[in-house]
Amino acid sequence: MENINWGIIGTGNIARTFAAALNGTDGAVLYAAASRTKEKADRFSAEFGAVKSYGSYAELASDKNIDIVYIATPMASHYEDAKLCLMNGLNVLCEKSVTLNRSQLMELLGLAKENGLFFMEAMWMKCRPTYLKAKEWVNSGRIGDIRYIHADFCNIVRYDADSRLFRPDCGGGAILDLGVYPLTLAEDFLGFPYSIESAANVSRGIDLSNSILLKYQDGSFASVESGFELASRNNAVISGTNGMIAFGDWFHCTCDATLFNADRNEAETFSQPNAVNGYEYEIIEAQRCLREGLLESPLVPHSGTLNVMTIMDECRRQWGLVFPGE
Ligand SMILES: NC(=O)c1ccc[n+]([C@@H]2O[C@H](COP(=O)([O-])OP(=O)(O)OC[C@H]3O[C@@H](n4cnc5c(N)ncnc54)[C@H](OP(=O)(O)O)[C@@H]3O)[C@@H](O)[C@H]2O)c1
Repeated sequence: MENINWGIIGTGNIARTFAAALNGTDGAVLYAAASRTKEKADRFSAEFGAVKSYGSYAELASDKNIDIVYIATPMASHYEDAKLCLMNGLNVLCEKSVTLNRSQLMELLGLAKENGLFFMEAMWMKCRPTYLKAKEWVNSGRIGDIRYIHADFCNIVRYDADSRLFRPDCGGGAILDLGVYPLTLAEDFLGFPYSIESAANVSRGIDLSNSILLKYQDGSFASVESGFELASRNNAVISGTNGMIAFGDWFHCTCDATLFNADRNEAETFSQPNAVNGYEYEIIEAQRCLREGLLESPLVPHSGTLNVMTIMDECRRQWGLVFPGE
């Protein structure tokens, strides 16, 4: 596989950022874009230089020249869009949160496995150099045993009935849009908890904000917040028996992290500017997997994505939140 032909489904905000990253990444070709309307697809393709432009997602999914499809639609559409691609024999990189719930994800993973296809949640945080440096520090014992993780991701977003963020039928709400990042961090470093305690401010069928406490058998725990009505530093700390790691603000996309020793003195700092816009790392990882014939990424394994989806299901169960059609 020399160059890899990418298709994009959905031409909204993140698709634009991702297309720019594709255009700046070696070996990646923005081959096709699909929108629900041909005019929008044509505009997007012209702006970002896609070779093909489709007025429906189904047309794109039947193009056999595509190596992998990036799905950039609202949460509630991921399941159908990913299924369409997998049924047509296409590999998939699907935006977060990957589905509305665990059962949808199980079905997609089953389909991918049956058809021998690559499937990955577009959890770009896990592919970024800063995040990988933190993993290296932890795995080499620099902070000892992890006892506590705190991470929050909040924005103040004004209510907009038309926005996917506030629409239950789009899979709106803070947990699936923002909470997925701190939960992924906690799951990756501590695993699946034995206890999940959570509270949320629920309004009009979605959670506007939430706070989640994950407890682990070895006595460690993680505390996670996300919300559309909270201001926070959007920071993360991984605290161990021998030190701690502090990420820069906006921990999920920061270029900076600091390792502190047990006396709170800086032991090491890490800083690496993005090569393009930060999304190139998940593209590089997906392309590496395709070239090596891997069906899942070791950086974003299916087990982690499933665990996070299971935690989010349990939180929504505790809040009595069910999406339309679930
Ligand atoms: N990784 C990140 O940093 C990041 C950042 C933002 C968002 N995201 C994720 O990316 C996905 C899309 O978010 P976004 O902010 O790009 O959303 P957006 O701007 O609303 O774009 C979503 C696109 O999906 C298509 N679509 C299909 N069905 C739709 C429906 N029922 N309602 C609205 N649009 C529909 C539309 O494209 P067409 O009209 O062309 O069909 C629309 O432009 C979400 O899963 C979100 O969580 C990830």
